Amino acid sequence: MEFKQEWYEGAREAQKRAYTPYSKFNVGAYLVTKDGKAYYGANIENAAYPSTICAERSALVAAMSDGYRPGDFKCITVTVDADKPSSPCGTCRQVLKELCDDDMPVFLTHQTNERIETTVNELLPLGFSGKDLE
Ligand code: THU
Repeated sequence: MEFKQEWYEGAREAQKRAYTPYSKFNVGAYLVTKDGKAYYGANIENAAYPSTICAERSALVAAMSDGYRPGDFKCITVTVDADKPSSPCGTCRQVLKELCDDDMPVFLTHQTNERIETTVNELLPLGFSGKDLE
């Protein structure tokens, strides 16, 4: 999939909305739907640290709460301020697996626009899913 600059800009905009009094590590996510909408996600931290919600899950939960369902998502772009792109945590990989197509592109960026292009399946090969419960 050809990357669009507006996806990077969306992730940078989302990042501005992060609430990170503890880590000060701001993450932005920009989730694009197949029908052309987009959702911002930012990491929202909590004094009880494990209650923090990552940017990727924030974007997915916003879209799902607006009525989107698995199969509706086209790609997600994530951005951080670091010397290299960072990669979704294990919990986010599991939620991506649940809600997104296995081959959905995941674009990992940082402030210089260097980019890693991967997919949900590459991030969580042999992942557990609803199919395992059938
Ligand atoms: N974080 C994300 O938002 N996404 C990730 O995939 C990795 C980590 C956040 C959680 C926490 O607010 C901060 O980055 C430092 O771990």
